[in-house]
Amino acid sequence: MVWSGKNPMRIKVARMARVVVLVAFILVLRGAEGRKKGKVAESFEYTAISCRGHSASITDFGGVGDGKTSNTKAFKDAVDNLSKYASKGGAQLYVPAGKWLTGSFSLTSHFTLFLHKDAVLLASQDMKEWPVLKPLPSYGRGRDAAGGRFTSLIYGTNLTDVIVTGANGTIDGQGSFWWQNFHKGKLKYTRPYLLEFMYSDNIQISNVTFLNSPSWNVHPVYSSNILIQGITIIAPVKSPNTDGINPGMNTRDPNNVFNYIVSGDDCIAVKSGWDEYGISFGMPTKHLVIRRLTCISPYSAAIALGSEMSGGIQDIRAEDITAIHTESGVRIKTTRGRGGFVKDVYVKRMSLHTMKWVFWMTGNYKQHADNHYDPNALPVIQGINYRDIVADNVSMAARLEGIEGDPFTQICISNVTIGMAAKAKKVPWTCTDVEGITSGVSPRPCDLLPDQGPEKIKACDFPAEPLSIDRVMLKRCTSRVKHM
Ligand SMILES: *[C@@H]1O[C@H](CO)[C@@H](O)[C@H](O)[C@H]1NC(C)=O
Ligand SMILES: *[C@@H]1O[C@H](CO)[C@@H](O)[C@H](O)[C@H]1NC(C)=O
Ligand SMILES: *[C@@H]1O[C@H](CO)[C@@H](O)[C@H](O)[C@H]1NC(C)=O
Ligand SMILES: *[C@@H]1O[C@H](CO)[C@@H](O)[C@H](O)[C@H]1NC(C)=O
Ligand SMILES: *[C@@H]1O[C@H](CO)[C@@H](O)[C@H](O)[C@H]1NC(C)=O
Ligand SMILES: *[C@@H]1O[C@H](CO)[C@@H](O)[C@H](O)[C@H]1NC(C)=O
Repeated sequence: MVWSGKNPMRIKVARMARVVVLVAFILVLRGAEGRKKGKVAESFEYTAISCRGHSASITDFGGVGDGKTSNTKAFKDAVDNLSKYASKGGAQLYVPAGKWLTGSFSLTSHFTLFLHKDAVLLASQDMKEWPVLKPLPSYGRGRDAAGGRFTSLIYGTNLTDVIVTGANGTIDGQGSFWWQNFHKGKLKYTRPYLLEFMYSDNIQISNVTFLNSPSWNVHPVYSSNILIQGITIIAPVKSPNTDGINPGMNTRDPNNVFNYIVSGDDCIAVKSGWDEYGISFGMPTKHLVIRRLTCISPYSAAIALGSEMSGGIQDIRAEDITAIHTESGVRIKTTRGRGGFVKDVYVKRMSLHTMKWVFWMTGNYKQHADNHYDPNALPVIQGINYRDIVADNVSMAARLEGIEGDPFTQICISNVTIGMAAKAKKVPWTCTDVEGITSGVSPRPCDLLPDQGPEKIKACDFPAEPLSIDRVMLKRCTSRVKHM
């Protein structure tokens, strides 16, 4: 997380960080501690960017965790009520064990949503419970259909200091309803996500499981200082567009520690707007850190950049990535008409098993928002660094296709050992319209990426300076709540 230097309080927080982050901490959630007037008292602990002064349970607002009663109003009332504590130390909403059916609801600032380990938020299948929002300005249209989009299950806009966490409780999108309607072409609007923040900052999303999202899972957009840690995302590998995390525009430093994602689309998809809409909105996605990600996604990538990258993508750092079965390790997708750039990408220490292409870059990913894109808007792909990678059971080492007259440049690949599958393609590398160097890479790379010899094995950059995310202090919050 990058804490802005403008606010002295935040700087102080950042300085104290290093020590505390190292203290191993076990999340404890004790069971019922005693009953008083029919209420159960529970205490819970978690680590967070801020602790809260006031606590309430969803049951205080009429919530019923029977899996059948709609709790949309209970969540809205709870957030309304708790928003009054924003200037008084903030508030947290506790969701006890149970199945809490709900439609879309919004969060507020200085607020924590905490899910008990056996709490499941079940997404409603009643479309009336999903208000429709305008398309994202940088997309110009919905991804599934021209026009609006259903609001995400949990939504926040223009917020600061918000935490969604728990003892690995579950947010279940009950997606099959939406996937079927999508496949039948029955949706008037774009499917909702499970969690979206727009125009927000200082957000923590941690220790929860996202299950069967209707579409993308976690979508921070036009936001900064986002910490995503310890989350599990699971969706069938054939479900449509169930991208794990889609950091949108100006999203800084999601630090994905121990995230485990099984999905039907890219595990992490970094984006920044689509064609002329993304170009004119002009907000790049920068300073993103992806660490300790485990990914399974047989038809997509562990990390994808694009294809909607028209606002630009820059300074993306990924390290310690494990992919168990994906189509590619890292893929960069763009096309004529996108404009924008993908620059300064640094990837190191990937361990990859079973994939079609370890590296895939394409300048020919044709989906357009509409026919008004400018074919002369050429994307700049430059400064792509991959190193210290081991892969096995691979069909093709790399398929790298730039754009004719607009080559992808400054590609650097070093210390990469790729074990080819028994049924591998005869030619392990295909390269067109790319420029760069390699060192210590096997099998032997294509001629457009000449080998610089073993002494250049550390040639590919990875920025040495630590990011401010490493200095963020997570506080230990202990709370007690009584609920029905
Ligand atoms: C997540 O839970 C683990 C224990 O399971 C704990 O060590 C960690 O601090 C928690 N992280 C956050 C950010 O809540
Ligand atoms: C909402 O907040 C007020 C304090 O402003 C409190 O008195 C009231 O009991 C709360 N309502 C519920 C249902 O908890
Ligand atoms: C949220 O912030 C954006 C960008 O500053 C602004 O355009 C928009 O009107 C704000 N929305 C609300 C609901 O305040
Ligand atoms: C969280 O729950 C998911 C789904 O039940 C499980 O796969 C995952 O291992 C759990 N994570 C932790 C840290 O307990
Ligand atoms: C090459 O990468 C491996 C990990 O894949 C690492 O253990 C080793 O130290 C790297 N070698 C150099 C010279 O950096
Ligand atoms: C290698 O990949 C193929 C699919 O390409 C898969 O069927 C096979 O099980 C994999 N082998 C191992 C040892 O993982």
